[in-house]
Order: sequence, then structure tokens, then C-alpha cells
Amino acid sequence: MKKLLVAAAAVLTIVTSAAAQDYPSRPVVMVVPFAAGGPTDVVARILAEGMRASLGQPVLIENVTGAAGSIAVGRVARSAPDGYTLSIGHWSTHVVNGAIYKLPYDLLTDLAPVSLLVSNPQLIVANPKLPATDLKSLVEWIKSNPDKVSAGTAGAGSASHIGGIYFQNFSHTSFLFVPYRGTGPAMQDLISGQIQIMIDQSSNSLPQVRNKLIKAFAVTSKARLAVAPDIPTVDEAGMPGFYISVWHGLWVPKDTPKPIIAKLAAAVRAAFADPATRKRFLDLGQEIPPVEQQTPEALGAYQKAEIEKWWPLIKAAHIKVE
Ligand code: MLT
Repeated sequence: MKKLLVAAAAVLTIVTSAAAQDYPSRPVVMVVPFAAGGPTDVVARILAEGMRASLGQPVLIENVTGAAGSIAVGRVARSAPDGYTLSIGHWSTHVVNGAIYKLPYDLLTDLAPVSLLVSNPQLIVANPKLPATDLKSLVEWIKSNPDKVSAGTAGAGSASHIGGIYFQNFSHTSFLFVPYRGTGPAMQDLISGQIQIMIDQSSNSLPQVRNKLIKAFAVTSKARLAVAPDIPTVDEAGMPGFYISVWHGLWVPKDTPKPIIAKLAAAVRAAFADPATRKRFLDLGQEIPPVEQQTPEALGAYQKAEIEKWWPLIKAAHIKVE
């Protein structure tokens, strides 16, 4: 019996390594946990294009929305561990959600990290018709018009929602949150004036700020964005210390063979090394991690550290899931 088991294990190893050698032999699917056209979708599409050459297969995008990205992440966690279904996500989907949703999967043990991806700060933005001209007057205006203000979010626990809650705490303001399936659709309503403000990733807001369709009051980082030097930092604008950086990552289902994870990580590194891909990310205010951090180990360690840092804070905030 023992001999039979050893032989079966050997056959399995040979089959797995043959599959890894041929990988990928068909298109790969990257599951985006928010609506098309939003910040995560844009990161995914730029990355997917950049990974294509080294994988030799297209990387197709599938948008699976709902519950601030946790439906999509659950879909990947339950997929076959063969490298053909990838989970792209960020700080809120792969850290924050674990503190506010009863997830039917474990963020650390049901997924295997592939690589840390880009990160971007948020912008405090508003419909251009709002009378406020700077962050201080925006806060004053919200205080005097609490019933007129609603902020768009990508659902309870999304980066835009957590950013909004922290904004309320820092500014002692109160306003309504309106959940969308992503800040892509929320942006349309901000432009049209259905909602008044958003704490939104720079990559989603910057193109609209440049086109003067919305206005930006501050960036949630210590330094101004090189690609948007006119937008003051939160420290300069009067909300010192209100820092949020939304970092992205790429994961696969647990038990995905290591050689497949290594091929995917190499494809990410190749994409980040390509000058045209780098420029597309940098233009959106996204920061590319140093090459030594573009690894499964760096993402695994960072995600764990972020869970340890944020879960106690998020749990203490008693965020309601609508
Ligand atoms: C999106 O792609 O819609 C965003 O990443 C949402 C968010 O977390 O704010």
C-alpha cells in the first residue's frame, strides 16, 4: 500500500511539473473585483497587456462586482489551482474586507501571493459646482450643508469608503455614503452632480481633474504627486496626517504549483520593466514597487503586516455592511 502511495505521488509530481512547463497553453483570466472603467480595472488592463508578451497568451479581464470585491475574491479562492484564474485586488479587498465581512475564505491561507503591484494615494475630490475653493472651505461647506452632501463609494469597506470614514473622523463632518459597484460608475455621478464628493484613488480621479470635470482639494500622501504638482498634500491643505495609500497585488488559488507562480511573477516583472507600461502607470499617479518587491514573498509579508495593522482599527470603527 505504502509503495502504491509513493508511486501515485511521483506520478502526480510528474504530471504537475509537465503542466507547469506547458503553462500557459490557453488564455489566463484576471478577475477584477470592481466595475469596468474604475481604478482597479484600469490597473488590471494595463498589467494584463504588459504580461501578455512574456506569457505568450492573452490575459483576459473579467469584472465580478459586489460586496466591495469579496464576491470576486471568493470566486478565485474556489477556482482550480492551475494558474488560469488570477485575483487582482488591493488594500481593501485583500486586507480590510477580512475585518468587516464574514468571508467564506481566508485571505491568507486560501490564496497564494504572486506579486506586489502598484500603489496610489487618494484625492479628495468634488463636483466642480461646489462653492468650496480649498480643503478648509470644503470642510466648512460640508458642516453647513450636511443634508446636501453624499459621497460615492465602491461599497462598504472599499478604499473609497474607508477613505470617507477617515475623512469624517479627521474633519468632524457627517454625510451620506452612496455605494456603487466601483468608483468608475460613482465617478459618472460625481461629474453629473448626483453625488458631491469622493475620496478616490488618484488613478481614477486624475484624468477627470485634468479635464476639469471634477475638482481636487488634496492628495492623501506626504508628498505631492509628480504628475499633478498643483494639488496640495493633506498636510499643506489643513488635514495633517490624513495619509492613505492604496496598494495592489496579484494572487492565485492556494496550491497553485510554485513554477506557475514563478512564471506569473516573472511576467509581472517584465511588464513593470517595460518603459511604455511604466509610463502609463506613472501618468495615473501610480507608484511601481522596486524590483526586489515584485515577488510572492514581498506581497505575502506585506499583506500579513497590513492585516495586523488595519484589522484592529477597522474592527474598532464598527463599519456596517449594507
Ligand atoms: C474600484 O476599482 O472601483 C476601486 O478600487 C474601488 C475602491 O476601493 O474605492
